[in-house]
Amino acid sequence: MSRNPAYRIFLTRSALCAILVATPALAALDLRDYDDDLMRDLEKTIKYFEPDITAQNAQAAKEDAEVLLDGFRYTEDYFAKRGKDDAVAISRDGARLVADVVAKVEIGEFEAAAASAREATQVCKSCHEIYKPRLAR
Ligand code: HEC
Repeated sequence: MSRNPAYRIFLTRSALCAILVATPALAALDLRDYDDDLMRDLEKTIKYFEPDITAQNAQAAKEDAEVLLDGFRYTEDYFAKRGKDDAVAISRDGARLVADVVAKVEIGEFEAAAASAREATQVCKSCHEIYKPRLAR
């Protein structure tokens, strides 16, 4: 079988595919239309999120949550359009955690809510580790 030239070409092509798949996702992602302003809003908001929760300021925490949910909806949609399932899953995790915070704030479980808020911060980082260019611009 290995002497069959067609089979050898097949092997070479699958090896090439494996290399292409292993190439960092950044190379394939054009971020020119990405909403950096929204990201900066998220950055500002997430800084107040946990402090608002620990201060038991339910109203402010819910307003923060709205902004963050918007952000995760945006990233989910953006990456879904580009077929990046991992980033879509990360975005959904973020939305789930923020919804969890709101639910806990509503029943006055501020400590548990703060823990979920901290986890939500990690969600931002896990996407950035994969998709945010480190040294760009
Ligand atoms: C699913 C992916 C994803 C999630 C989730 C995500 N980000 Fe980002 N973020 C990116 C990408 C990609 C860039 C780089 C955009 C670019 O280079 O134009 C970025 C850029 C940024 C920037 C830099 C913007 C600038 O000035 O150029 C900030 C700040 C930021 N994100 C904050 C956050 C915060 C805070 C969260 C969580 C609440 C978050 N991001 C969640 C993908 C994500």
